[in-house]
Amino acid sequence: MRTGDGAKTLEVVRDVASLRAKVREWRRQDETVGLIPTMGALHDGHLALVKAALDSCDHAVTTIFVNPTQFAPNEDFEAYPRDEADDLSKLQALSADVAFVPPVEEMYADGFSTSVAVSGLTEGLCGATRPHFFGGVATVVSKLLLQALPDKAFFGEKDYQQLQVVTRMARDLDIPVEIVGVPTVREADGLAMSSRNWYLSPEERAAAPALYKVLCDIAAKLSAGQTSAAAIAEGRTVLEAAGFGPIDYIEVCDASSLEPLETADRPARVLAAAHLGRTRLIDNVAVG
Ligand code: PAJ
Repeated sequence: MRTGDGAKTLEVVRDVASLRAKVREWRRQDETVGLIPTMGALHDGHLALVKAALDSCDHAVTTIFVNPTQFAPNEDFEAYPRDEADDLSKLQALSADVAFVPPVEEMYADGFSTSVAVSGLTEGLCGATRPHFFGGVATVVSKLLLQALPDKAFFGEKDYQQLQVVTRMARDLDIPVEIVGVPTVREADGLAMSSRNWYLSPEERAAAPALYKVLCDIAAKLSAGQTSAAAIAEGRTVLEAAGFGPIDYIEVCDASSLEPLETADRPARVLAAAHLGRTRLIDNVAVG
């Protein structure tokens, strides 16, 4: 719906049938739809995805759903930041069309017993330390894609392994959607924006940009011909000195298969996950 000044009024939809009706109406008019799956606590990184959708599609559907199946029992599902009113006002300010905010029962009916598993790509990196995670993500993202049937769906490079997993899943299952990757949005000091940055104490927040800096240093050393093992060992020492620990991984991987690389002899990505106090931070950069 458009107001007098041309801006659209955000519509909040909480059930799949209403979402489908909305999308059907747009499709009847040959209008395109972009989907932006999120878990809310929206920041400028999420909003870059919404803007990318609005730039290339007629309508943007942003989903806000803290997906319980991608959290292990000992993880932060309960503590995960939630502020629906603030999220909706940010989406309204961008003139996004629809926020899909389903309750858990709408996504996981009683007796829900299906899961989507992507093998290979999910085994290393975050999959090694969070074995439940990508099954939960692949299942909920395939549901969201089938519910909304968008032309394009937008994912951040910030979660690089997730972007590769979702791309592979959509291809393997013939889901008729284009998966679009959007570059990571950072704070002025380089820290990748993340809903989990809210957990950082002032001291941790001051130390946090070391992660990005270390990844950039490793990428530069690889470009200069150093081996992954040497560059990673130095990076690990710097991160530990900055107060990070435990470090789940720092790896240099093939940019699409995510196989570990000893040297950057093809398009490569440096990826890391490390704990800073009670917060687990992830980040990645391209080599070269
Ligand atoms: P969430 O962490 O809320 O992130 C939603 C989307 O925003 C993801 O595609 C993520 O990569 C992107 N994003 C987050 N921070 C970003 C940044 N600083 N720059 C660019 N993009 C950024 O990722 C999830 O939720 C969930 O796993 C989800 C895909 C919604 C499935 O539940």
